[in-house]
Amino acid sequence: MAPGFAAAALLPGASFAQRALSTDRLIIRSGRPEDLETPVHLLNSWITPNDVFFVRSHFFTPIVDAAPWRLQVDGNVESVLILTLDDIRRMPSTTVTATLECAGNGRAFFEPPVPGVQWRKGAVGTATWTGVRLADVLQRARVTASTRYIWLDGADTGVGAAPDFIRSLPIEKAMQRETLLAYEMNGEPLPVSHGFPLRAIVPGWEGAYSVKWLTHLQASTRDHDGAFVQAGYRYPRKPVAAGALVAVADTVPLRDMPVKSIITAPGPDAVFPAGAPLTVAGFAWAGEAEIARVEVSTDGGGTWQPAQLGRDRARYAWRQFAYVWRTPAAGSHRVLSRATDTRGMTQPATAAWNPAGYVWNAVDAVAVHVGTAVPPRAVDPPIAPGGDSALLTSRCLSCHDVELIAQQRLDAAGWGREVDKMIGWGAPVTGGERERLIADLVRLFPAHRSAAP
Ligand code: MTE
Repeated sequence: MAPGFAAAALLPGASFAQRALSTDRLIIRSGRPEDLETPVHLLNSWITPNDVFFVRSHFFTPIVDAAPWRLQVDGNVESVLILTLDDIRRMPSTTVTATLECAGNGRAFFEPPVPGVQWRKGAVGTATWTGVRLADVLQRARVTASTRYIWLDGADTGVGAAPDFIRSLPIEKAMQRETLLAYEMNGEPLPVSHGFPLRAIVPGWEGAYSVKWLTHLQASTRDHDGAFVQAGYRYPRKPVAAGALVAVADTVPLRDMPVKSIITAPGPDAVFPAGAPLTVAGFAWAGEAEIARVEVSTDGGGTWQPAQLGRDRARYAWRQFAYVWRTPAAGSHRVLSRATDTRGMTQPATAAWNPAGYVWNAVDAVAVHVGTAVPPRAVDPPIAPGGDSALLTSRCLSCHDVELIAQQRLDAAGWGREVDKMIGWGAPVTGGERERLIADLVRLFPAHRSAAP
């Protein structure tokens, strides 16, 4: 939020929704705050429709009234700029088709487990975004030459004492032609969950730069010192051992996304009749680079065949791919996809483990069964928070839904670190309660659970 403004003063009429998107088609990783994943079978077109586009929000969703809303541009500028939505709509508009992926997409696949929303494949989508160039707005405010970062802040605020979600965008990327302040998504006004009335779109970079519900841009000579820049969205400078703790000083900010592909059809454990050809399809993307090729293996990685790339393309958008497997033999198969980008980078067999579970980009794999029944899979025990969970209810569930807690796969040490982070963010947990709360979390949500499907 802009300095010196209380939420109500900046946004008369604004309210906060627990869940703004009404959908029963997305996977609810968390209802409150709103974290919704697109099931892969709905990722079936180059453009992802708005009503099935994943949602990632750290805090409650602000519902902003467009009439009193303003965007303020200040800091290292020659003239402070205050724009209405109409002012912005009157500026020259531009449209960019870009893929947006959450840095934590695929976090559920890391072993040992890492805390956070346990996204599998669907925290990614592609939309056509329309708005104004961020560069045009910055030029109108006459950003001074010494500016190195643009701080982006939206109308959402941290719950309790949690830090505000503010991101810091290097000026070179801010001035790039495709970096937008968008007011439309796929030809419609931005949906509330996706940032109405205005959001940043930073093509090719991890999704957290694309700040929603924008209210304030501040030009600065230095990086922002808040938690979402100095602690979150950072990646180890050097490879680390799986499970290791990494000091913030040994990390760098995440920016560009690496090469990746996902198989969206067949879905996991699909069953096909023997003797018929089978199409393996999905998407591949590579941050600021482009996709050079996608290969598919139908024998668990022994041999690879080129997949065909779809004709739809845009500089920062994913490519569809398809491979027709003409003669699948009866039995169970492991089908893989592997993308290579124009930088010459190929998806690795295993993604590099990191403590926050960012940028999972291992070769993708699905089990396919031809003319055979699906082998039985171990089923996770149901989540049964019961017994002495009064502490959990009073200390955790006022801000989070139980499902966000239940999907974590943490041991006592992992829960300890999460509880300490929440205490740091103002959770009212006293010294004696800390140990009891960790014991409750370990008992109610055992570490062996896999992420919710
Ligand atoms: N902007 C604000 N103000 N608050 C947020 O929590 N989440 C970020 C980004 N912008 C976020 C935000 C993250 S982590 C991602 S991945 C994208 O929004 C997700 O955008 P979407 O919800 O439109 O898919």
